[in-house]
Amino acid sequence: MKRKIIFILLIVVFSSIELADKFYVFVDGLNMRSCPSVNCSVVKTLHFKDVVESVGKAEYTPSFDWIETEEGWVALQYIDYLPMKINGNLPVDFDMNYSEFPLPPEYEPDDLVEIPEEYCIKSGLKLRKEAKEALIQMLNAAKKDGFDIAVASAYRNWFYQRNLYLSAIKEHGPDQTAVAKPGRSEHQLGLAVDLARKDKECLLLKCFKDTPEYKWLVENSYKFGFIQPYLKYNILYMEEPWHFRYVGKEDAKEFYETYIKGNDALQY
Ligand code: DAL
Ligand code: ZN
Repeated sequence: MKRKIIFILLIVVFSSIELADKFYVFVDGLNMRSCPSVNCSVVKTLHFKDVVESVGKAEYTPSFDWIETEEGWVALQYIDYLPMKINGNLPVDFDMNYSEFPLPPEYEPDDLVEIPEEYCIKSGLKLRKEAKEALIQMLNAAKKDGFDIAVASAYRNWFYQRNLYLSAIKEHGPDQTAVAKPGRSEHQLGLAVDLARKDKECLLLKCFKDTPEYKWLVENSYKFGFIQPYLKYNILYMEEPWHFRYVGKEDAKEFYETYIKGNDALQY
């Protein structure tokens, strides 16, 4: 009986606590406001890596999404959950898209290698060794079949990704779905590439989807361990026919069989 009472008491106590989330600020000079609008007064200015705790309320406005903290309101577009702690390299099948927590700014795999320039449309692009070797095999196979495919973007460090993200929200607004938040990009894993025609026609444009190079990738990339995660109906980002992610042959085959094979409506 005594144990039963303690148990009931515990349930009452825990169910009455509003679960708060801790967030970290990923920009420098972020204004905390007295209410959820850029017109509200500034309570204080936050800096890179400051931590704020939500009191559970959120407000979605056309310009920004806001969360309430004990001291004021902060725009959700400039904060994220506290990054995960990582020792060593993440496994190649790590699913960034369904990870609750972002990668830390310091995360950089230690086996990054340069992709030879002949396979790229600019120099200095890097990937993790295993992914780079699979990529070269894939691009050689494409060439043998008559398709000249090259890499437009590969590993991006956290700070580079932050610049891309901040430019994207400045240009297209806070709801843009073209660029991942810093710490949320598969490019930081060193396992993702943006592919293009070597002649740069339709470079990072929707029309890449209509090219024979893309069709070749759809039918063949899984054989080399690559998948195209941002298909038309994905719920995270805009459709990205150029973005391919190395996950290893086994997972790629499973992805192909689940989402691509015989699934024209989804793909085209
Ligand atoms: N464009 C993809 C979503 C990225 O930024 O990683
Ligand atoms: Zn990409």
